[in-house]
Amino acid sequence: MSVIENSKLSIIGAGSVGTSLAYAALIRESARHIALYDIKKSKVDAEVLDLAHGTQFTGSSDIVGGDDIDVVAGSHVVVITAGANQAPGQTRLELAGTNARILESLMPQLVERAPEAVFILVTNPCDVLTVVAQQVSGLPAERVFASGTVLDTSRLRWKLAQRAGVSTASVHAHIVGEHGDTEFPLWSSATIGPVPLLEWNGGQTFEVDELESIARDTRDAAYAVIEGKGVTNYAIGLSGARIVEAVLNDEHAVMPVSTVLSGFHGIDGVALSVPSIVDAGGAHPLAETRFSTLEEERLQASAEALRTSLAALGR
Ligand code: LAC
Repeated sequence: MSVIENSKLSIIGAGSVGTSLAYAALIRESARHIALYDIKKSKVDAEVLDLAHGTQFTGSSDIVGGDDIDVVAGSHVVVITAGANQAPGQTRLELAGTNARILESLMPQLVERAPEAVFILVTNPCDVLTVVAQQVSGLPAERVFASGTVLDTSRLRWKLAQRAGVSTASVHAHIVGEHGDTEFPLWSSATIGPVPLLEWNGGQTFEVDELESIARDTRDAAYAVIEGKGVTNYAIGLSGARIVEAVLNDEHAVMPVSTVLSGFHGIDGVALSVPSIVDAGGAHPLAETRFSTLEEERLQASAEALRTSLAALGR
């Protein structure tokens, strides 16, 4: 439970992602109060009821919600999940125009009602929409960031843990860059416990081609899940709840969230994920993060892909 007395989390969008995030936050008691907002009254009212009906089993968090945006008033954290989802085979960047328009209308209304909140973008393309949200709101970059590659990093750590036969919590590896097709792993700093990943031989050494295959599977994981069930929701819901906790508990936790960078390896005005400190003030990129030569090239390529997408939006 949050260190903030009566902490309030508002979730914008009662679709599969927003409701999974609300469900995860209830079970994890991420916030004392959870509010769910959507423009579709019958849908959001039913989702709130269905979640509230289970709160006897979930501890001290409560949930309210509805189609009146005033429900977000006084939030400490606002997570935005509203917008169109990827169709099978569709890239996240292809959603930019539609979801940017939704955000341009929504952001001022949210900031008016929760002027002190930290805003977390989950809607895709979350990196591009973070730039839009920060520009539209005028809030400082640290207070408007995206879940970015926190989910991708979780996918990578799960895969590596399975392969190495260790706990996921003992795998320290990051996916950084775009939350999308140009994301990439920081192999050069990855470890299992204190052992550099590239020196791991607890059973079988990781060969370069195997690592690249694991990175590709991680990058394409969402496509595979969407192909089978139409959406991804559980893992992103859990990722979002975890990030919310780092803010509300002022954890100073290192997470690869996506903020609008300023002078980070020469990158300005683009949001992408790098290891960052997440605390009550928001997200603060770790300038001292090390990149190998190949990783630096991939970082710049990811920034360029996002810059192109922003330019297409006129941003
Ligand atoms: C995914 C969505 C959240 O990666 O972009 O599952």
